[in-house]
Amino acid sequence: MKADVVLGLQWGDEGKGKVVDVLTPKYDTIARFQGGPNAGHTLEFNNEKYILRSIPSGIFQGDKINIIGNGVVLDPALFKAEAESLAKSGHDLTKRLYISKKAHLILPTHRILDAAYEAAKGDAKVGTTGKGIGPTYTDKVSRNGLRVGDILCDFENKYAAAKARHAKVLSDMKFDYDVTELEKEWMQGIEYLKKFNLIDSEILVNDLIKNNKSILCEGAQGTMLDIDFGSYPFVTSSNTVCAGACTGLGIAPNKIGEVYGIFKAYCTRVGSGPFPTELFDEVGDSLRVIGHEFGSVTGRKRRCGWIDMVALKYSVMINGVTSLIMMKADVMNHLETVKAAVAYEIDGETVTDFPYELNGSVKPVYKEFKGWNCNINDIRKYDEFPVEFKEYVEFIEKETGVPVKIISVGPDRDETIIR
Ligand code: GDP
Ligand code: IMO
Ligand code: MG
Repeated sequence: MKADVVLGLQWGDEGKGKVVDVLTPKYDTIARFQGGPNAGHTLEFNNEKYILRSIPSGIFQGDKINIIGNGVVLDPALFKAEAESLAKSGHDLTKRLYISKKAHLILPTHRILDAAYEAAKGDAKVGTTGKGIGPTYTDKVSRNGLRVGDILCDFENKYAAAKARHAKVLSDMKFDYDVTELEKEWMQGIEYLKKFNLIDSEILVNDLIKNNKSILCEGAQGTMLDIDFGSYPFVTSSNTVCAGACTGLGIAPNKIGEVYGIFKAYCTRVGSGPFPTELFDEVGDSLRVIGHEFGSVTGRKRRCGWIDMVALKYSVMINGVTSLIMMKADVMNHLETVKAAVAYEIDGETVTDFPYELNGSVKPVYKEFKGWNCNINDIRKYDEFPVEFKEYVEFIEKETGVPVKIISVGPDRDETIIR
């Protein structure tokens, strides 16, 4: 059976955790394919709330197989904290979680390097999550990284060499740091990792596909944060797009089935970088407050704005999205007017293709909609939505050419309409 993919179409935090949890009953296996603890995926059910960072969002339901793929970067200390906290709340993962030996390790000094590079950039900083993501992927690509499989053989020497290399860079940058505490926790994390099934996960994934088992690949971040297609250089360091599921799990492109593209009915971004439809007024503030738009990992305020159809259509194209999933429209219940950017005006010209660069001269051109201006949280059937809401959904379907198959009207697993 082909593997399906769930991924974000905007700047992350679209609601991937919730959607993966909702879709999990249909699948035998849930697999993360890129990113690391920069992610924060929220799940709510039975009055409980969990935020997952490196562990796949399928972990709460039955005895599904969960996989952390080779495309992921793993911090053993943060992983230990996350897995232990899940174990405490009754979710023991050691038998159900498989970790790729080819996944790269985030070293304590990668986190320090992340801080050092950000400090060196000054005002041009990316506003990273500070989890060492960029430096770890940099070491992977420059063939200097340490992988999970390395912890099983001659690890001390490999670690010492990598640490010495990082120390030299940090000394050249004249960056003061103390890695002692971080390193202590990290080493405990390394020992903890050995309790898990460390495998060549691409073999397992392909065996599952061959044996007609269903796999859901869980993306992190969003298409606008993709290293190739996002708003570079204000992006993360991995391929967040559908192709990332192929390289991050070892799945051939012709074995990809459904591609679920998730978007918020408005738009948010956390960290620096361009955001053409950003709102600096009371509407933006109201979306932040009602939508609890504060980073689940860093607690930072998320910037809020209108939906951007130029960017959304680009994301749909790059990912080959087959079904759209719309999140958080309930956060817009109070608005009398809703806007969507349908084009950009750049130096007097109207542009509908996503441009090379989103700089200060990009001005959104808006289409206005009458807001539904009522509570939609309790609606569970598409037909029961107010006409204004349906017009908004149908506009998005027409613009993208893709059906909106799932609509989420609240954070809970049950607050979901599947069409
Ligand atoms: P992810 O990183 O894509 O998994 O998304 P996050 O978990 O970082 O952010 C999404 C936030 O919105 C979380 O706090 C969710 O609980 C919440 N959420 C998800 N879907 C909905 C929805 O339809 N309505 C509302 N009001 N909140 C939602
Ligand atoms: P989820 O999976 C939102 C952003 C950071 C920063 C940029 C680079 O929860 O959607 P990094 O630490 O990756 O080097 O930071 O990317 N970023 C996210 N924004 N959601 C995320 O993950 C993010 N992961 C990274 O804020 O702008
Ligand atoms: Mg998140």
